[in-house]
Amino acid sequence: MIRKIQHIGIAVRSLQEAIPFYRDVLGLELLGTEEVAEQKIRAAIFRVGESTIEVIESTAPDGPVGKFVEKNGEGIHHLCFQVEDAAAALSRAKAKGIRLIDESPRVGVHGMRIGFLHPKSTFGVLTEFAQEGD
Ligand code: CO
Repeated sequence: MIRKIQHIGIAVRSLQEAIPFYRDVLGLELLGTEEVAEQKIRAAIFRVGESTIEVIESTAPDGPVGKFVEKNGEGIHHLCFQVEDAAAALSRAKAKGIRLIDESPRVGVHGMRIGFLHPKSTFGVLTEFAQEGD
């Protein structure tokens, strides 16, 4: 059901300051940047083999990533698994007693259908399922 790690989300205060590290120091290919208004984020996406790293900054202090950075500082924010069917993956987790943040998928970066599991149910790791858009 899970195909691969789709991406790792890393929360930073400033994309402009963080991009040179991933691009110039690590030498990763920057695939692009994208704003997701609904999540109040802007993300820079770097290719790492078959997976990506999403470096994320908040576009508003009251957004989920803004609150995360305020509370925890910069760092790893979430882990995303690529699944064939995000709705099915969320229902399956729910049926197994996992608390969901998203009861059904919504549209995220790259038009993927995404949904999150609550970190209280996943040993502290905010876990995302993503289904590639068609
Ligand atoms: Co993500």
